[in-house]
Amino acid sequence: MSGEYSMKQKRQQGVRRLALAAGVALLVVGTGAQAGWNNGWWNNLPAPVADADYFANGNQDPAKVKLGQELFFDKVLSGNMNISCATCHHPLAGTGDGLALPVGEGGRGLGVTRDTGSGSDAVHERVPRNAPPVFNLGANEFSVMFHDGRIQPDAGMPSGFESPAGMDLPEGLDNALAVQAMFPVTSGTEMAGQPGENTIADVAAAGDLAGPNGVWAQLAERLRGIDGPGGYVEQFIAVFDDVNSADDIEYRHAANAIAAFEAVAWRADDSPFDRFLRGKRSAMSLNQIRGMRIFYSNRGNCSSCHSGKFQTDLNFYAIAMPQAGGGKGDGMFGYEDFGRERVTGNIADRYRFRTPTLRNIALTPPYGHAGTYDDLESAVRHHLNAVNSLYSYDISQLRVPPRPDLNAADAQAMNDPAVVDAIAARSEIAPRNLTDWEVARLIDFLNALTDPSMLDMRDDVPVQVPSGLTLAE
Ligand code: HEC
Ligand code: HEC
Repeated sequence: MSGEYSMKQKRQQGVRRLALAAGVALLVVGTGAQAGWNNGWWNNLPAPVADADYFANGNQDPAKVKLGQELFFDKVLSGNMNISCATCHHPLAGTGDGLALPVGEGGRGLGVTRDTGSGSDAVHERVPRNAPPVFNLGANEFSVMFHDGRIQPDAGMPSGFESPAGMDLPEGLDNALAVQAMFPVTSGTEMAGQPGENTIADVAAAGDLAGPNGVWAQLAERLRGIDGPGGYVEQFIAVFDDVNSADDIEYRHAANAIAAFEAVAWRADDSPFDRFLRGKRSAMSLNQIRGMRIFYSNRGNCSSCHSGKFQTDLNFYAIAMPQAGGGKGDGMFGYEDFGRERVTGNIADRYRFRTPTLRNIALTPPYGHAGTYDDLESAVRHHLNAVNSLYSYDISQLRVPPRPDLNAADAQAMNDPAVVDAIAARSEIAPRNLTDWEVARLIDFLNALTDPSMLDMRDDVPVQVPSGLTLAE
């Protein structure tokens, strides 16, 4: 039965593809066929995004979404109550922070105006990786989180996920996005603060996440104390079947609500490309279609990795992306980031990072796992000759608030010829000769991945949050 059903689906897909091919072939006539262009490139186009691609078919309880929105913007989830999720994933900065590397707790200000703080509150280091955008992460296929995929499904774990918390990760998390929301609060640099500053930072530094006085228990205790009309207690009881009184609130409930908010607010599947795939051929300009052809054909070969409905295969590749920042503690001096190897322990995975989605890519500079490219064209051109691009990388483009000691740390990896050679040696992306015209068309296509409803996200910001803490950064 199910076999027959999928055969039928496949046939329907085939018919749709054929119709699409005919339309596309008409439109690209005149761009000049070149050797190596795969005539069947349109078969690489994904099917249109549908509700069924998202967790709970894209339907979320509005009360849960509102709760998640307030939690996302509430600094009460940070040890020193001075930073929220939104500080690094803000609607005014494309759900990122506009910086190459974030400034965590202790910094002040928002986006590219954020500073590194002052006095004893000043940050000790930069966050070692770029804050990725949060677009479409409520889609079921995004089961792998972080640049190195250290959150991923694992049926052999009680929670259903492998994560840095191992067996401590609670059961009852809705999806990978909810699992992810368990972790920023446990990081001293991101949200918890330095040991000695507050009791959450103390237990976070000791690695106590799930204990009776661990990070998650202490945060739940804070939320239980915010009662009264419009407070958290009232909302958690209304939203969760297994919360009947303040005592039942756990941090995992907060994580599920946050994930519901992220999924609904930043679902972005109405770009010109989406409209085109749904049959509205005029949604994309001719130059965007030309770029699409380069992207999906063996001319650009981009879709060999940036495949599927969200332009990612969620796989891991070493493409010689430059590194910057203090690193993840890897390598002889600790200033490297080994990427996927950190998760698998397999040296073959060294410097491999997850293929990022390219949805709304024009809205989310800087690019790369350490934000080393400040503009889209440089990020695209890097792929054309990754090794050359690595060796000629100019770190002056690294968009970070300056501080001499941090700047020195930023440059360590790229100033170490042995490290640069090692990153180059591991590159697994073959050089491609694209003309300037072709690169310009690729950028045209990438711009067709911008959902216009994400150009104005001011409504995602709540007016106030239940803790009463300020929304200002
Ligand atoms: C100090 C900045 C900072 C704060 C605060 C912060 N994040 Fe992040 N976020 C990051 C960075 C950096 C990464 C990538 C880390 C990595 O891959 O190792 C990330 C990754 C993510 C991802 C994974 C995206 C992907 O494509 O895999 C999600 C989702 C996310 N953060 C949501 C949140 C939520 C929810 C909160 C609050 C509970 C939060 N972040 C707080 C900086 C921050
Ligand atoms: C071999 C697989 C592979 C191919 C082929 C590939 N990419 Fe990528 N791409 C990646 C990976 C992996 C990253 C992230 C690398 C990192 O951060 O270390 C990336 C990053 C990017 C980024 C930056 C995204 C961000 O959010 O930081 C852009 C833009 C991009 N690719 C566009 C393209 C285009 C256009 C093509 C075709 C010319 C292409 N890619 C071909 C694997 C690939």
